[in-house]
Amino acid sequence: MSSLRNIVITGFMGSGKTTVAENLAQRLGREFVDMDKVIEARAGAPIHQIFAERGEASFREMERTLALELALRRGLVVATGGGALIADDVREMLMQQCNVYCLAVNKAELGARLANSPQRPLAAGWSALYDARKPIYARIPRQIVTAGKSVDMIAGEIAALERGALYVKTPAGGYLIRIEAGILSRIGREAESLGLDRQVAVITNETIAPLYGELLTEQLPNAQMIVVPDGEAHKTLATVSQIYDSLLEMGADRNTVIVALGGGVIGDTAGFVAATYMRGIPLVQVPTTLLSMVDSSVGGKVGVDLPQGKNLIGAFKQPRAVLIDTEVLATLPPLQWRCGMAEVIKHGLIALPGLLDADLWGKERAEQLVRQAVQVKIDVVEIDPYEQGIRAHLNLGHTFGHAIEKVTGYAVPHGEAVAIGIVRAAQLSRNLGFITDAVLARIQKIFWQIGLPTDIAVDRERWYAAMATDKKWQAGESRLIVLKRIGQAAVVRGLSKDDIMAVL
Ligand SMILES: NC(=O)c1ccc[n+]([C@@H]2O[C@H](COP(=O)([O-])OP(=O)(O)OC[C@H]3O[C@@H](n4cnc5c(N)ncnc54)[C@H](O)[C@@H]3O)[C@@H](O)[C@H]2O)c1
Ligand SMILES: [Zn+2]
Repeated sequence: MSSLRNIVITGFMGSGKTTVAENLAQRLGREFVDMDKVIEARAGAPIHQIFAERGEASFREMERTLALELALRRGLVVATGGGALIADDVREMLMQQCNVYCLAVNKAELGARLANSPQRPLAAGWSALYDARKPIYARIPRQIVTAGKSVDMIAGEIAALERGALYVKTPAGGYLIRIEAGILSRIGREAESLGLDRQVAVITNETIAPLYGELLTEQLPNAQMIVVPDGEAHKTLATVSQIYDSLLEMGADRNTVIVALGGGVIGDTAGFVAATYMRGIPLVQVPTTLLSMVDSSVGGKVGVDLPQGKNLIGAFKQPRAVLIDTEVLATLPPLQWRCGMAEVIKHGLIALPGLLDADLWGKERAEQLVRQAVQVKIDVVEIDPYEQGIRAHLNLGHTFGHAIEKVTGYAVPHGEAVAIGIVRAAQLSRNLGFITDAVLARIQKIFWQIGLPTDIAVDRERWYAAMATDKKWQAGESRLIVLKRIGQAAVVRGLSKDDIMAVL
């Protein structure tokens, strides 16, 4: 117990720090410290009186002294005062010594709450204070968005983070990725803290419904399944429309939570529904394929296909949470596993060479594999949430691969096409002098070991023509991702047709 880092909960006044910290302390069986209460006890006066009689500066000094004391202790859950972490030195020191979480509350919500707490000394000028302090709070990396969440949910999220859940920072705050074998079998016990104790629509397909859909809905107090046909062919507006109908029929409103249970097709389709139904309702992603666990469920891109092309209709919709149960991979067909591995290898090549270690590739180490592979996606989407820069690196091999899918009428599965495409990109990298023949050979061998092809017999002219229609090629200028070395990708523009044909 005493070796545990303190957990510090901070945020603007009225953000709910104290109730959340108290709830969290109870969950974790830790001692709870309310800084304001300790200061009041020491001063023998309520805070507004300390402010009135001794001035704010003297209150801040008491706060600083207490923060230093607490930083030396272990195993506490601390609720700070609203202004405690505004001083750079105090904030930096606590962030070094403790796990600091900031409750991010939006202004409208806060206004409503503060309207009836006149006893807070700074409540009168809260609006200007909020604007002034917001950028300072934003310097705390772990932001917990509170909008629409109960105290139980917020404390539950922080508890999950403390147990090793991953965190994705987004422009509006952030969300959690919980990777736990067996989490779906335990979901009933956590319904409240996951916010799944209200009306839930579990959207899934005919294959997954009998495997995991019932397991999920049976444990939740108020959940219904919406089952759509399986396959990319059904990632359409027609399916979206069918889901809207089902939602209306079940009386879904803006508080209804959509759970997308399935691979990338379900995640993209149900995610698009969540982005648009009543202008947007909460979404929880429960990915069940390796690809969706390490790639599509994270980053907020959702959408459907049109007859004219894939993913032409879409939106950015950040999930409220991503729940990954690696046990479901037991039923994943081997081809789907291999296809997911193509993306894992891609993540290894662009950012994390450790993923290229064959010891990590078995289903028995899935938890570790997924955790590392998804971290690459997190790092990229945090820097570039709207795909304006570095997120393009995730397209390694994909312009080549998409063209193969197109030319073969989607007879070649995506992961296989990507494997073939990554090897083309690697050849290009070699031709450009970035990597050696030996590295190229190593990449090829990795795919063979996994059971993925690295070559295909298609007409080169048609292959090139399909690549040239890629939506990422701007104004006809080629734009491809290459490897500078293993673990680092780069964008190369304006290569000639000859340069590209040389690797097809
Ligand atoms: N949004 C994004 O950022 C993003 C990124 C990459 C890919 N995608 C999209 O993802 C889609 C591909 O996703 P996918 O590869 O997961 O394919 P998928 O969703 O079609 O799933 C593959 C097959 O496996 C079955 N399945 C899924 N989980 C299973 C399980 N645990 N046990 C048994 N069977 C299971 C499915 O029913 C399906 O038949 C594409 O539409 C692609 O455009 C989106
Ligand atoms: Zn892909």
